[in-house]
Amino acid sequence: MILDPLPPDLRRTHGCGELRPAHDGSRAVVMGWVNRRRDLGSLIFIDLRDRSGILQVVFKRETSPEAHARAEELRSEYVVAVEGKLVQRDSNTVNPALPTGEVELIAERLYILNDARTPPFPVEDDNATAEDTRLSYRFIDLRRPRMQANLILRHRLCLEIRRFLNEQGFLEIETPVLTRSTPEGARDYLVPSRVQPGYFYALPQSPQLFKQILMIAGLDKYFQIVRCFRDEDLRADRQPEFTQVDMEMSFTQPEMIFGLIEPLIENICKVAEDHWQQEWPRRLQNLSPEERKKRVKARKPIKCTLPFPRLTYDEVMSQYGTDKPDLRYEAKIVSLDSLVSAKLAHDFGIMPPIIGFKFSSEPKYGPQSRTAIKTRIQSVIDRGQNSLPELKSRQDEIGRPALFVDWCLVEEGAQILRDTQLARTLQITLDAKQGDVLFLGAIRGTAELRDPYLPHRCFDILRNELAQFSLGYSPQRKRFLWITQFPMFEYDEQEQRFVAMHHPFTSPTEETLELLETNPAAVKAKAYDLVLNGVEIGGGSIRIHRQDIQRRVFRALGFSEEQARARFGFFLDALEYGTPPHGGIALGLDRIVAILAMEASIREVIAFPKTARAVDLMCEAPAPVSPAQLQELGLELKKDLT
Ligand code: AMO
Repeated sequence: MILDPLPPDLRRTHGCGELRPAHDGSRAVVMGWVNRRRDLGSLIFIDLRDRSGILQVVFKRETSPEAHARAEELRSEYVVAVEGKLVQRDSNTVNPALPTGEVELIAERLYILNDARTPPFPVEDDNATAEDTRLSYRFIDLRRPRMQANLILRHRLCLEIRRFLNEQGFLEIETPVLTRSTPEGARDYLVPSRVQPGYFYALPQSPQLFKQILMIAGLDKYFQIVRCFRDEDLRADRQPEFTQVDMEMSFTQPEMIFGLIEPLIENICKVAEDHWQQEWPRRLQNLSPEERKKRVKARKPIKCTLPFPRLTYDEVMSQYGTDKPDLRYEAKIVSLDSLVSAKLAHDFGIMPPIIGFKFSSEPKYGPQSRTAIKTRIQSVIDRGQNSLPELKSRQDEIGRPALFVDWCLVEEGAQILRDTQLARTLQITLDAKQGDVLFLGAIRGTAELRDPYLPHRCFDILRNELAQFSLGYSPQRKRFLWITQFPMFEYDEQEQRFVAMHHPFTSPTEETLELLETNPAAVKAKAYDLVLNGVEIGGGSIRIHRQDIQRRVFRALGFSEEQARARFGFFLDALEYGTPPHGGIALGLDRIVAILAMEASIREVIAFPKTARAVDLMCEAPAPVSPAQLQELGLELKKDLT
């Protein structure tokens, strides 16, 4: 086929999606992709698509025979420029589903700038194409209006973040990508050095030490929208490279960080709300006008109420069994230690903490059949049983399931809950009504639990599953929560030592500092996380600014003086040259955008994400390299890898 060059003096006058009845009678030049073509003989219609939307273009044999003849050659995804006159449509041909549905372009000249192979899947939002195919052909996938809307939202949020932080006196400063390993808990991506064979750079898991050094250097307030790299198991909300909104401030306190982040989040929620006001009607295009109107009206605006609630780590763990609860579902875990008698506990071979939980059958939880709920509950209990390592090892020890869960419908009663006295007290404690389901959980055995929240963690799995029944669990609702007073350390069963829960540069609280050497498990950190709808969207802390305390923390983590020097010598040195008290936070940009875009995975808001196996299917990375490249780097692959 003959392709036309783009005429040098032909200029786009409008985006396809911008034209309205007010443009009636104007001349217009539009350029884009053929979304769809309908050939009615003497009339050919195309839906022309660009980033701004879709416009109907009409080719009439009668008025522009040449353009009409060329239009016969058009197929989906051909790239064209069209020049013509914009007119208002007759009232009976108006398409209310399109923002441009009241107008059409009567084509006078058509330039076919490029042809296209038939795409592997249609460029429309509601298709069930497998994700791997979408990722392999990301250039097609990103043409879908929904993906473009997501990237536009991401862009707008970044603009707002930069504007806001600039106004607050923050400087955006870049930090190296080729650097040394920083301990954020995941594996590093390593880059071999050519000029120093046998030496490696690490890609930063976060710019943690650089931002602290910027504070030591007197830059006062730093931020960066920065790529971080972590080689860890991937999930819907985890990518090997992801973006943080990273911040650090000198002379700060947690309150000042909360006071900065809350209005920032409020502002980005406003941007997201503005986005959805335009985007929501577009998403409903395929519905009837009445249904669309109803759904537009029913949409709840995105808003966040300040200040965000706060819970300490101990509160959140004992009430929800997780440090990132989804507060759209309000049911809380309660302690039943004082209700269950020692004798009863002994009879069932369980030990405190004994906890309870109510799944309410109020109508808002939807019309689920009892059998459906029961089946689901049992499968979750089985899953909880198998998901936690400490539970598993205890199970091996006692030779039977370590998790004891008893549950009943209020009117039915079961096992331990057949103790009518207890069932009644439980009903009162949990304010249970007919039809509610009550749960009681504990761990079997007598040996003390290393993790006091083990049964709570099992109930978290249950709580999340049951929340799916709740009608209040809508993606439109946004529930924020700060978690504070984290433990400084957690015990790593595999490594058999304490590891930092946040990172080793986090400051212990003044009240618990003295326990560093005697009882590390009881030391609390000046650390905080921000949670939105059950997802950790940010984390940070006040840092250690004194070298003596930093050394004590390294010691508590099991680093010898030499090991600490070898890994962080430059940083320990810097701490000696006048370090101001400082602290900061990093927000997970991908997660925030995904939640505000109402997408279930961060892959939907990243232009070129990787699969769960950390593969870029489009460029086929990672890939083998030539023997010559390896040799230059002084590397040799093991035989069984080649
Ligand atoms: P943290 O490790 O908590 O803190 O990371 C901050 C936020 O980054 C997001 N995040 C991720 N998002 C997508 N994929 C991942 N693999 C991933 N890992 C983390 C989360 C998380 O809350 N240097 C510290 C911050 C500080 O102390 O100031 C840090 O990196 O939303």
